[in-house]
Amino acid sequence: MLIGVPRESKPGETLVAATAKTATQLIDLGYDVIVESGAGEAADQPDSAFVDAGVRVGAAREVWAADVVVKVNAPTEEEVGRLCRGAIIVSMMAPARSPELLKRLQAAGVTALAVDAVPRISRAQSMDVLSSMANVAGYRAVVEAAHAFGRMFTGQVTAAGKVPPARVFVVGAGVAGLAAIGAASAMGAVVRAFDVRPEVAEQVESMGAQFVHLDESLFAEKSSDGYAKEMTTEQRAATAAMYDEEARAADIVITTALIPGRPAPKLIGAETIAGMRNGSVIVDMAAANGGNAALTETDQRVVTENGVTILGYTDLAGRLAAQTSQLYGTNIVNLFKLLTPGKDGVVVLDFDDVVQRGITVVHEGESTWPPPAVQVSAAPRTPIPTSGSAAKEESRRLTEQGRVLAVAVSAAVLFGLVAISPAALQGHLVVLALAVVVGFYVIGNVHHALHTPLMSVTNAISSIIIVGALLQIGSDDAVISTMSFMAVLLASINIFGGFAVTRRMLAMFSRS
Ligand SMILES: NC(=O)c1ccc[n+]([C@@H]2O[C@H](COP(=O)([O-])OP(=O)(O)OC[C@H]3O[C@@H](n4cnc5c(N)ncnc54)[C@H](O)[C@@H]3O)[C@@H](O)[C@H]2O)c1
Repeated sequence: MLIGVPRESKPGETLVAATAKTATQLIDLGYDVIVESGAGEAADQPDSAFVDAGVRVGAAREVWAADVVVKVNAPTEEEVGRLCRGAIIVSMMAPARSPELLKRLQAAGVTALAVDAVPRISRAQSMDVLSSMANVAGYRAVVEAAHAFGRMFTGQVTAAGKVPPARVFVVGAGVAGLAAIGAASAMGAVVRAFDVRPEVAEQVESMGAQFVHLDESLFAEKSSDGYAKEMTTEQRAATAAMYDEEARAADIVITTALIPGRPAPKLIGAETIAGMRNGSVIVDMAAANGGNAALTETDQRVVTENGVTILGYTDLAGRLAAQTSQLYGTNIVNLFKLLTPGKDGVVVLDFDDVVQRGITVVHEGESTWPPPAVQVSAAPRTPIPTSGSAAKEESRRLTEQGRVLAVAVSAAVLFGLVAISPAALQGHLVVLALAVVVGFYVIGNVHHALHTPLMSVTNAISSIIIVGALLQIGSDDAVISTMSFMAVLLASINIFGGFAVTRRMLAMFSRS
């Protein structure tokens, strides 16, 4: 099949649906690819880059006559008219908000795959264009903020005086919010963030920011599908004062709060903006959906009377066109890997697959929108059903019995050892037994995230044990020398194992 990649017709669009690299990957899947001349110019992908990679460059007429047309933005009415009957069109389409477009696609007798409708399940992450774009946009929001802000992000102590770090407040910790937190932290700012979904607090903290905690009883409910719901009256009242306080204290506010299918919630009021410091900046990433700040103007840079700059840009991902096009193109390649099971350049749609079913909004002229609901991976896992409470009770009883048996056997072994040990060793054995019990409960309750520091501590303890054991290993008493040998062996496993794990972890971070 022939895949055509047209030049985007949306005014000011910088993105292209395939780069020279991703076009070659499509060719490797067995497709012929043709790119419209000039399509990648704004994304650092001149025609020569495609030609050098062995990709055909041609006129719009040839591209739109292809079996499959892949683009970034939804096709316009005129573009739908250019598609051949039976062709496949792949692009973002916002199908829930575009009933007119879906009708036009049906009338054209084509198959339409909306890449912005990829279900949010782990398996589909590599095809999720919305995540790719939100990630780049979150980073770019920080770059725009830094450009508009008259000072540095990082704190410094210089001969000319002390420079405090910038204070950044991020509202909404979805994909874009987390990317913004990561970029602002990396630039040295002190970052604080809030999200109505309490489950993201850990992610925020792992990105180096401080999560702003509010009354936990008001925000206890975890989201059932990974997305936020509209706030209740009590939640709105509780957050209003916090938003006001945080925004006034911040140098930069980056807002990303969205609720699927609703206009963006208004969170930063005009009074709050009036109370912000001269020179502070708001980047409203929700501008395309009406904005989270009161004075945001879509695609505009507004400077208020008190000197607050509000950026309402909706093309943040397009401002890093080369990077976004590469990520978008890779998402498309991953999608075509799924659509081409034979790697023979032929699209085979499988409606039993939730991803393929989810993105197919029109199939050979028939409407297939909306698809059946899918349990998204962002939602908390539902507990695995067990085969009844009797079985659960039986397994609990068996575990309890096993535990009692293990304690009894250990106690008998300890008593036996104490009985045959010399008097000087008996006290040590009791201490050892107690240390094992305490250690079991302490280590058993350490959070996974703290296992690396825990390993360092146990390595330090192991080195003390080795020194003690080496001093005792030459003892004439067979019990003492055997135990010393065991102590050296076990502590060495811990120390050398620790080194091996540390090496592996460092290798993960080193540039190859
Ligand atoms: N394939 C996948 O598994 C996949 C892909 C992408 C995203 N996700 C997950 O989906 C979830 C939603 O991500 P998204 O980036 O699409 O979110 P989004 O763009 O829909 O919303 C942005 C953020 O704003 C928050 N928000 C809404 N109202 C708010 C308010 N009043 N105050 C503060 N914050 C508010 C939301 O909770 C969300 O975190 C995330 O958990 C993300 O990790 C999963």
